[in-house]
Parts: sequence; C-alpha cells; structure tokens
Amino acid sequence: MATEVPKNSEGTPKWKNNHSHSNGNLPQNMRRQIISQQRKSLPIASVEKRLLEEVRKHDILIIVGETGSGKTTQLPQFLCNGGFCRDGKVIGITQPRRVAAVTVAKRVAEECDVELGQKVGYSIRFDDTTSASTRIKYLTDGLLLREALLDPLLSRYSVVVVDEAHERTVHTDVLLGLLKDVQKARSLERRKDTNGVTLKEENNVQNRVSLKPCEGSKISPLKLIIMSASLDARGFSEYFGGARAVHIQGRQYPVDILYTHNAEPDYVDAALITIFQIHMSEGPGDILVFLTGQEEIESVEKLIQERVQKLPKTSQTLKVVPIFSSLPSEKQMLVFQTAPPGFQKVILATNIAETSVTIPGIKYVIDPGLVKARSYNHRTGMESLIITPISKAQALQRSGRAGREGPGKCFRLYQESEFAKLADSTTPEIKRCNLSNVILQLKALGVDDIMGFDFMEKPSRTAIANSLEQLLLLGALTDDYKLSDPVGSQMARLPLDPIYSKALIVASEFRCLEEMLIAVSMLSVESMFYTPRDKMQEARDARKCFTSVDGDHLTLVSVYRASAECLEKSRLAGSKEKKAEKTLNKWCRDNFINSRSLKHARDIHSQIRGHVEQMGLHISSCGDDMLQFRRCLAASFFLNAALKQHDGSYRALASSQTVQIHPSSVLFRAKPECIVYNELIRTNHNYIRNITRIDPLWLPELAPQYYASQN
Ligand code: CDP
Ligand code: MG
Repeated sequence: MATEVPKNSEGTPKWKNNHSHSNGNLPQNMRRQIISQQRKSLPIASVEKRLLEEVRKHDILIIVGETGSGKTTQLPQFLCNGGFCRDGKVIGITQPRRVAAVTVAKRVAEECDVELGQKVGYSIRFDDTTSASTRIKYLTDGLLLREALLDPLLSRYSVVVVDEAHERTVHTDVLLGLLKDVQKARSLERRKDTNGVTLKEENNVQNRVSLKPCEGSKISPLKLIIMSASLDARGFSEYFGGARAVHIQGRQYPVDILYTHNAEPDYVDAALITIFQIHMSEGPGDILVFLTGQEEIESVEKLIQERVQKLPKTSQTLKVVPIFSSLPSEKQMLVFQTAPPGFQKVILATNIAETSVTIPGIKYVIDPGLVKARSYNHRTGMESLIITPISKAQALQRSGRAGREGPGKCFRLYQESEFAKLADSTTPEIKRCNLSNVILQLKALGVDDIMGFDFMEKPSRTAIANSLEQLLLLGALTDDYKLSDPVGSQMARLPLDPIYSKALIVASEFRCLEEMLIAVSMLSVESMFYTPRDKMQEARDARKCFTSVDGDHLTLVSVYRASAECLEKSRLAGSKEKKAEKTLNKWCRDNFINSRSLKHARDIHSQIRGHVEQMGLHISSCGDDMLQFRRCLAASFFLNAALKQHDGSYRALASSQTVQIHPSSVLFRAKPECIVYNELIRTNHNYIRNITRIDPLWLPELAPQYYASQN
C-alpha cells in the first residue's frame, strides 16, 4: 500500500550546517534568501507536486516522514499554493503541543513573509492569534475539538491535517473519530445538494443532530491528512479503511549511541556531568537534554550557570535555553537562535523536542530515558502524573535528533541492558488517563453512546464507566447520562478540567468566584514558588507572609492578591506598563515567586474571567471570609477528600488509597484531620499537593449526592 516518494533529485543530502537564519540581526533580504534556500533543501521540497496530486486524489491521506523532513512547516504552504485556501477556506493543522503550534506558526509566517495572525496564525488555549484573513492555522488538537462544539461540521476548513499522530494523545484519538464522522457528514451534505441521498445513507452517518449544517451555509468536502513520524502507518491506514499512505524519505546521519556502564542513581546529576564533559572534551555542536518538566529544567538551568562560573574564563561559553510548554511564547523562540560565536548551546527540553519541535544545530543528545506522563489507575479511577521510562521508539526518536545535519552522538544515561527492557512503543494516552474531559466534550458534541464511538483504540469499559460516574457526581450529566442543562453545557464550554469548571460554577453560588478564578488559574500552572539551594531559609521566610494555616489554595490566593496589589501600586504611581512589569518581576524575585509562572497564571486568569463573564456567572468576592471559600472548595473538590490516619498518612475517601501530603504543601507539618486536594503525584509515595483543610462534617452537608449515601 505504501509508496516511496523519491529523494531529492541528486539523491545526496544538501544539508548545510547553516542555521544563521534565526539570527535576527541579518538584513531582511539576506534572511529571506537563507530561508528560501533552507526550504528548498528540505526532503519534502522535491515532492511538492506529487504530494498535491495525492491529496487531490485521496480524501484521506497518511503522510509518514522523519522528524525534520519539513512536514509541519511545508505541507500547509504547498496546500495553500495548490488552491486549498480558495473561497476563504482554512487549512487547519493540529498539534498535540502548544509550543509546537506557536513556534511553527511563527516560523511559517516568516517563511511566507507575512505578519503572524494574518495569513498564518495559531490558536491555542488562552492564546489566539488568528484573524479573518488567516488561511494556515496551527492549533492544538484539543482546541479543534472545542471548535467542533461551535461549528460541528468544521465548515471553515478545507483540509484538516492531524500532525504528530504517532503521539496518540487522547485528543488526537478522539479527533480522529470525530473527523471521520465530519468527513462523512460533509460529503453527504454535498451530495444532497447535487443528487440526493437515501435515508439509509443518512442514518449511517452518526445520528447526531449537531452534524446538520447551518441554514444557508455551503458545504464542501473535507480533506483529511494524518501525519506521523513513526514509520509504521498500518494502524492509521486500517482505521481509515485502508487509506493511502505516503512515505517521505528522510536523511539521517549516523549517531553513536553511548550507554552508561553502571546504573545512574541520580539522572539529573549524570546529565549535568555529561553536559560539561561534552563541553570540555567534544567538538562543537549544540547539546539537547531531555528532562521531565519545568521544575527540573529550571533547576538544571541554575546549576549549569553556577558550575560554568567555576570553569576557566575561556571555557565559560555555554548558552543555556529552556523549552517547555508553559514557557511564555516570546521566550520559546529563543531555542531557535544560534548561540553567540564561540558558544555552545545547551537546550533543556521536555519531550517537546522529541518530534514536535525540530531545533537546528544539534549534534549531541543527552537522554535520561524518562518522561513525565499521565497514568491512570483503573481500580481507583485516579489519574496521576508519574515519571516513567520512555519506550524504545521514543529512545530512537530522541537519538535521531543528533543526526539531522551531520553525524552525532547520543548519551543514554542508562545501561544497554535497560534499553532492552523498554516497551517497544508508548501506550496511547487514551488508555492511561481519566476520560471525564473528553467524554464531557463528546456528550456536548451530541455523541451519547460513548462505548459505541469509533475509537481507534477503545478505552476500557471500566475507565469509561468511572468517568461517566464522575461526571454524574459533578452534576454534568443527568441520571440517564445525558448532558445536563445548564450545568453540563456550561462545564463543556469552559476550557478547563471538568472538576475546575464545576468549581467555578459552584463558586458563583457561594459568592466567591473571584477567589476561585484565582485559585483555578494558579493551579493551572506549574511551580509558582522556587527555592534556590543557597537561599533556602530566605525563601522560606519570604513565603511565610503568604502562608495560610488553612492550606495551599488560600496561600495561592494571597500570592496572587499581593502581586496584583504590587502591580496596581506601581501603575498608580504613574508607571508605564513595561515599568510596572519590571517592578512586578523584582517583587517576584524578592519573594521567591516564579515570575514566568505568575505571568502565565495572570494570562489564564483574564481569559477564564472572560469566559465566565460571557456565561453570565455571578462574579463576586467573599473578601476576607475565608471560611466561605473553604466551604466552597470542599463543595467543589469533594471527590478528592482525604482523612488523616493514625500514622499521619491520609486515606483518600473516593478510592481508599493511602496518600501523603507532599513536602511542598503548607500543610505538610500541620496535618489537619480532613482535607481536599487537587493533585496526585506518584514518586516513591502517593503524594498529594494543593491541599485545603476542611471540616469533615461539610462533606455530607455540601456533597450529599456522594457522602450521604455512603454513611
Ligand atoms: O514536521 P517535520 O518534523 O517534518 O519538520 P518541520 O517542523 O517542518 O521542520 C523543517 C525545518 O524547519 C527543520 O529544519 C527545522 O529546524 C526548521 N524550523 C526552524 O528553523 N524554526 C522553527 N520554528 C521550526 C522549524
Ligand atoms: Mg512536525
């Protein structure tokens, strides 16, 4: 079934190790020339015509090509030049990761020589840069699902490209099922216009009211393209009824793989040592390090900076750039910039750099073999984040990053015998996450029979049942599992986890929506506080001003309020916006608050506020009545309540699991009798984080649907 698309005409790599394109100082016309050259040298460039023909011939096409071959940046431009943007139609390209959507859109806007947000734009949760003139639109897979709520036939799109499909995020999987339906429904509508269809045919398209077009709108067929970096296209092809698959020949230079002799007890330390070894004794070329999250990246960044100081002056030539999803978007583009002359760039990345984002110039990869992933316990119905070993497929992708422009080296910080034990490929996320979120969305899209939905890989019956039960308890569904009105539909409209959406609705009744908006925004970002190793006591002292004896939610609210006050004061004193921001950054430094995280939380806050205003929820503050707010937290997060046991650990009431308060919680020492929490992380313990002290008697009073029947 699969066909080979030929290599570049000469068949030899035309790669140049020239990545000065990211150097913003070059004159415009030179920059343009370089970009144009780079585009022409991409493996996909020589097959533009051929690909366009394939897309014209087939309604569903699977494109497989190695990372860096130009799929994400080039194909949409080919399609646009090939006429798929006519009549105001849009080409949508979905990405599992926000960072990819943002950085690629910026790059493509530059390649097209247009301003971002005009012909090329991106749209991710809490950040939309598109306009009516946008024709090439990068967006997250989750966001396209949300768009389907408002426009079930996705009528503005002529082509939807599901990119990075091999990642098999839960949103990608649901999207694939949905797009199948939308495509059928659109071709049916089209034929109705011309020669009519039978009732049977009509019934074959899922019986969804939502798949009817709006009155008077003209429907054209939808092209679907599935793109993947994993060479095996069979799964996708079978799912789409034997769809056509095309392979783009990539170019890969040899990569030396090095394993450690012994198991490394501390991979962060091992990574640091390896970075410095490469820097001091290997040749030039940039280094890419895979780490597991923002917190780890930020701490490694600081450690590198500290250790660089100890090197001889002439060797202090490391330029560290982090990349992770919650990094503010203006900072994300820094990874693509070349290091100053004579410097070696060290990119500290999460899994983002595995296939989603291709960074030029990398010669060395450091791979600790770990990833932070969602994990779901079917017995307890609880989802947690856990640092787990990657799969063989992921290890190969990671090492591949070192051989794109020339021979490279990959340092695996584990033993070869460990590699052999890794799973071949990663389990799709849909098999290891709580499904409440997607089930709520599917219900809102009119898919009532979740078990009957055409999933590429069906989640287990228990997982579906657990999530339905949870939605029922949150009041999002009626007793016969239909979306409830208005609570369920309101919850589906908010771009948040159902439990947070519900918390906002509850809070409007408790007259503390101001506080809940803050709490939810602050909970939506990672690591608000930071504690440098050399200033532990200072950091602790600074934190005391915000600490609430009632717990982390109230502490976060205090931080937010204090930061808002600082900003307000500075503005009142006549400071311009830039100056006020600076004052706030200083305030953050003084108080050991992570200014990046705070900024992100402020952005999220203003967006969700917009949503709840639109929904007409009553926004008021409980002022200093924190009892009221705590009762509201109990009413919202009753599914995550826990009681203290004799030994100081806790029993989660919903699952009977034993959990412990994470040392970062302000309640770590106080250990109150009864609490509600928001996050479960598994390391060597089941740790819970973001915790508030509550009165156990509130539970049957505020959540009788759950606790009254249990007692
Ligand atoms: O999607 P695929 O992995 O096939 O490749 P791509 O993301 O389209 O990347 C093609 C080329 O564009 C690579 O050489 C990247 O390094 C480059 N690129 C870039 O320089 N800056 C970006 N923001 C994105 C891509
Ligand atoms: Mg790509």
